[in-house]
Amino acid sequence: MSHPVSYRVVGNVGVVTIDNPPVNAFSLAVRKGLNDTISDAIADDSGIILIACAGRTFVAGADISEFGKPPEDPWLPEVLDNIENSPKPVVTAVHGTALGGGFELVLASHYRCALASAKVGLPEVHLGLLPGAGGTQRTPRLAGVEAALELMTSGRPIPAGKAQAAGLIDEVFDDDLEGNALRWCEQLLADGKGPVKVSEKAVPQVDAAVFDGARQLLAKRARGQLAPFRIVDCVEAATRLPYPQGAEFEREQFAECMASPQSAAMRHLFFAERQAAKVRDLPKDTSLRNIRSVAVIGAGTMGGGIAMSCANVGIPVKLLEVDAAALERGFGVIEGNYAKTVKKGRLSQEEAAARRGRIEGTTDYADLADADLVIEAVFEDPELKKTIFRKLDEVCKPGAILATNTSYQDVDAIAGVTNRPGDCLGLHFFSPANVMKLLEVVRGAKTDDDVLATAIRFAKTIRKVPAVARVCYGFIGNRMFNPYIREAQKLLIEGALPETVDAALYEFGMAMGPIAVSDLAGLDVGYKARMALPEEVRGDDTPFKVADALVEAGRLGQKSGAGFYTYDPETRRASPDPEVVTLIEKTSAELGVERRDIGAEEMVERCVFALVNEGLKILDEGIAQRPGDIDIVYLYGYGFAVHRGGPMFYADQVGLDHVLARVREFHERFGSDAPA
Ligand code: 3HC
Ligand code: NAI
Repeated sequence: MSHPVSYRVVGNVGVVTIDNPPVNAFSLAVRKGLNDTISDAIADDSGIILIACAGRTFVAGADISEFGKPPEDPWLPEVLDNIENSPKPVVTAVHGTALGGGFELVLASHYRCALASAKVGLPEVHLGLLPGAGGTQRTPRLAGVEAALELMTSGRPIPAGKAQAAGLIDEVFDDDLEGNALRWCEQLLADGKGPVKVSEKAVPQVDAAVFDGARQLLAKRARGQLAPFRIVDCVEAATRLPYPQGAEFEREQFAECMASPQSAAMRHLFFAERQAAKVRDLPKDTSLRNIRSVAVIGAGTMGGGIAMSCANVGIPVKLLEVDAAALERGFGVIEGNYAKTVKKGRLSQEEAAARRGRIEGTTDYADLADADLVIEAVFEDPELKKTIFRKLDEVCKPGAILATNTSYQDVDAIAGVTNRPGDCLGLHFFSPANVMKLLEVVRGAKTDDDVLATAIRFAKTIRKVPAVARVCYGFIGNRMFNPYIREAQKLLIEGALPETVDAALYEFGMAMGPIAVSDLAGLDVGYKARMALPEEVRGDDTPFKVADALVEAGRLGQKSGAGFYTYDPETRRASPDPEVVTLIEKTSAELGVERRDIGAEEMVERCVFALVNEGLKILDEGIAQRPGDIDIVYLYGYGFAVHRGGPMFYADQVGLDHVLARVREFHERFGSDAPA
C-alpha cells in the first residue's frame, strides 16, 4: 500500500496530503505518517504548512475499527499537539466532511479554511464517546461555550458558512480549494502571520446556569446516556482549568466512555447500519434500475407519508385512491404535515410548495403506466392487495418494480398473482413514514437481484436505513414485536399495571413502554390482525383478554381518547384509568391468577428476552441475515435505546447463557415462548 501521507513543496508552502480511502480516517499509519511529515515540514525551507486531503472528504475522524483494541503510539492528541506547537504556521483546508478527530485536527491548526460545500462536526456522541483529541477544550475557546455544547452534544455537523459565523473556520471558498488555500497561505506569510494557538485563547466565561440547563435538556434528549453528560463536564472544565489540565480531564473522560458498554453498543450500531445495506449473496456488480418516478396506492396513514418521503428528495409521485374524496382527505393530511414543518421553521414555504407540487393525485390506473416503482399501501387485506397487484401487472410498463407495504402478509403470495414475481418485493415502511428512518426491504422467493439492489439504493435515496428480511409473518420487526407485546400483556394479568410495565421498559431505555405503544398503534389493529389469522396460527388468545375487552368496549387507544390509558383531548397526555385497573383485576380473577408484585427487572427480562428469543428464531430460519440487521430494525423502527445496541447486542452483553436460562424459566413458569 502506498504511504497514506505525502508531502510536496509548492512555492513557500509545504503541502501535506492525507490519502487514506474511503474517508481518510486517522488509522495508525495516518497518525504516524502525519507526525513524521509535519516534523519534516517544520525542518525544511518552506514558510508555512498546509494540510489537506485527497479523495472524497477531509478526515472523517479516528479509525473506529481500531477502537476497543490496545492503543498504539502516536496517540492522536499528541499528533495534534505537535501540530499546534509547530513554529511555522499550519493551515488546514477542508472539503467534504471534517468530523471528530478530523475536525480536532482543524482546531489544532493555526488557520482554517473550507469549501462552502464542506461540513464540520464532532459526532463522537453518536458513538457513545466525546471528542478526545482536544475538541472539548478547543471548541469553546473559538466558538464559545453554548455553541460548543450544541455542536458536541447533538453531534450534528454544520455547514462551513455556519462554522465560519461561529468562529470555527476563518475562510470559506466557493471552489478550487487547493488553489485558493495556497494563495491564502502565501498571503498569510506575506502579512507576517505566525502560529495562533487555539489552546492559548481564553474560554469566554458563562453563568453556571448554562451547564445546569444543558444537563436538564440532555436528561430528556439523551436519557440514559453517559457521553453527553461527560461532554458538558469537559466544557465546564475548560472554563475552570488551563488547557493542559483541561485536556488531561478530557482524556480521562474519553477513556471512561471508550471502556463503557454504551460506547461498545453504539460502535456496533455504526457498523451494523452499514452492513445491513449489504446482501451476502448479491453480486457487487448487480445492475440497478432507474427510479425516476414513483406511484403510491392508497393515500392513508402510510401512503401519504411514503409519497412525502419520495417528494422530499425530488422524486415525482402519482398517488392513487379509490375516489376524489379519499384523495382530498389524503392531500389534506399531507398539506397539514408540510404546513406544520413550515410553522416550526424547518422548511421554507417555497420548498414545501415544491414538495407538495411533486405529488399528483389520480383515481385512474392508466396514470401509473410509466411509474418506475409502485408502492401499494392499501388496507391490510391480502385479497385486496392481490386484486391490486393483478391490476398493476396489467397496466405497469415492463421493468417497473411492484412493492407492497404490507405489515404481515405473504409477499410471495401477492407477487404470485402477477406474471412478474421477479419484479415484486415488500417495502415495509414505519409510521409516520415521512419521519421514521427504517425501511424493511422484504425479499421474496422470486425477487430478482437487480430489484433487490435497486430497492436498497432507493431506500438510501429517500434517506431511509434499509434492512433486508425474507418472507414470514411480520418479517423481522413485527414478528418479534408480537411476543414482546404478548409478554407485556401477560404481566398485566399476573399482577402489573399499565404504568408499571411502561415505566420499567421506559427506564430500560425504550422510547415508549409496550402498553403505551399498543395504545398509540390502536388496539383494534392487533385485534383485527389476530382475528384474521386461522385459529391454528393465532395461538392462545388468553394474554390479550384485557386488550380485547378494551377494543370491544370501544377503547381503541389514543385515537378514541381511551385505551389502556385515558387521553386528554387537548394535550394527549395519558392518565391511568381506575376502570382499566378494575378490568385487569377482574380478568386475573376470571383466569384464576393470583396477582403478585412483579419487579421492574422481571418485567424488562420478560419483554426484552421475548424479543431476543424470537430474533434468534428469525436468524435460525434465515429471515434476517445477521444479528446486527435485527438491531438496526429495532433501533430505527421501534425506538430501542441506542446505548443498548439493539436487542441482539444487548443479549450478548448480558450473556446468552443468562438469557437462555431465563427464557427456559419463563417458559416453564408463565408459558412464555419456548427457547429458540
Ligand atoms: N473509521 C473507520 N471507518 C469509517 C469511518 C471511521 N471514522 N467513517 C466511515 N468509515 C467507513 C464505513 O464503515 C464504510 O465502510 P464500508 O464501505 O466497509 O461499509 C466507509 O467508511 C464509507 O462510510 P459511509 O458508508 O458511512 O460513507 P458516507 O459517504 O455515507 O459517509 C461519513 C461518510 C459522513 C464520513 C460517515 O462515514 C461518517 O459519519 N463516519 C463517522 C464519522 C465519525 O463518527 N467520526 C468520529 C470518530 S470518533 C473520533 O474521531 C474520536 C476522536 O475524538 C479522538
Ligand atoms: P389506512 O387505512 O390509513 O389507509 C389505507 C388507504 O388505502 C385508505 O386511504 C383507503 O382509501 C385506501 N384504499 C383502500 N382500498 C383502495 C384501493 N382499492 N385503491 C386505492 N386505495 C385504496 O391504512 P394504513 O395504516 O396506511 O396502512 C396501509 C398499509 O400499510 C397496510 O397494509 C398496513 O398494514 C401497512 N402498514 C401500516 C402501518 C401503520 O402503522 N399504520 C405501518 C407499516 C405498514
